[in-house]
Amino acid sequence: MSAAGGDLLGLIGEPVDRVRRLLDLAQRYEPIANDPSANTGELAGRMVGLLFFEDSTRTRMSFEAAAVRLGASVMIAGGSGTSISKGETIEDTARTVESLGMSALVIRGTPVGIAHMVARVVGCPVINAGDGAHEHPTQALLDAYAVAEAHGRLGHAGGGWWDLSGLTVAIVGDVAHSRVARSNLACLTMLGAKVVCVGPPGLAPAGLCGLGEPGLVEVSRDLDDVLERADAVMMLRMQFERHGGAGEGSVLGSRRQYRELFALTRERAGRMKDGAIVMHPGPMNRGLEIDGAVADGERSVILRQVALGVAVRMGALVECLGEGGDARNGRAGA
Ligand code: NCD
Repeated sequence: MSAAGGDLLGLIGEPVDRVRRLLDLAQRYEPIANDPSANTGELAGRMVGLLFFEDSTRTRMSFEAAAVRLGASVMIAGGSGTSISKGETIEDTARTVESLGMSALVIRGTPVGIAHMVARVVGCPVINAGDGAHEHPTQALLDAYAVAEAHGRLGHAGGGWWDLSGLTVAIVGDVAHSRVARSNLACLTMLGAKVVCVGPPGLAPAGLCGLGEPGLVEVSRDLDDVLERADAVMMLRMQFERHGGAGEGSVLGSRRQYRELFALTRERAGRMKDGAIVMHPGPMNRGLEIDGAVADGERSVILRQVALGVAVRMGALVECLGEGGDARNGRAGA
């Protein structure tokens, strides 16, 4: 195994070779990732701390499963159960948790840059599990994996070297407030895919074209047009909690209007290209951005995305910690 990667704070600006290495590792672990009896022992004797200050089901549980499959033990804190509610700073909480013997910290929270803040003050590698509307690198990696898998572009073992060129991925809905979309714009275009962001101007502003690799990002208001050329359609949750208190009406118009223009309805899904897949990072608002029948339909890889999350997070933990699982992040302050 190559040297430890250290922190994984985001994918924007990360070298493509690191992204491919992370995907290769995920592919290595994929066969055992969801086998509850598997234990590679690679992180035996290590402890991984999960600091989740925001709600999470799949990200938190899949990081936990990933650490356990590698033989590590896991400690979880967050929500109202930490001393943050007593006035402690995030930095002090992170250093306190690290001093309990953590080899890595996985952190999710609402302030943009929270994982970067923690990485500056602890000595162990830090993985960003979602910071506000900024980045969610492991989600984008699992999304890229799901696209590659569906279209025969897996890495070494599959012979495709994670090359997504020639594929078009539509990211639909509340792109502006989505950390999943930001990390995906970087990741998917770095691997050569074209990304079309679809939504009303308030949710998919024209400025999104400036993200990702030059020339590979487009913005469209016409889901029906994009559907006919997309190889994957990634629906996003309407992230009302990130709309700064703006009323639903001012963001969406009416729900009925929004659905008419931007929901992945059963009828629309029926017009997708042969072989095209339906994705959603979850949690879903069934009946708003996506019909239940589509989420559960034959094109849907939504539960496969969840399952791949464990393999990707095993790969991320191993890559960040390096052989022997004892990387430091190289910063002062531990
Ligand atoms: C997302 C998140 O929390 O960023 N979900 C996830 O991690 N699978 C998306 C969302 O909240 O809408």
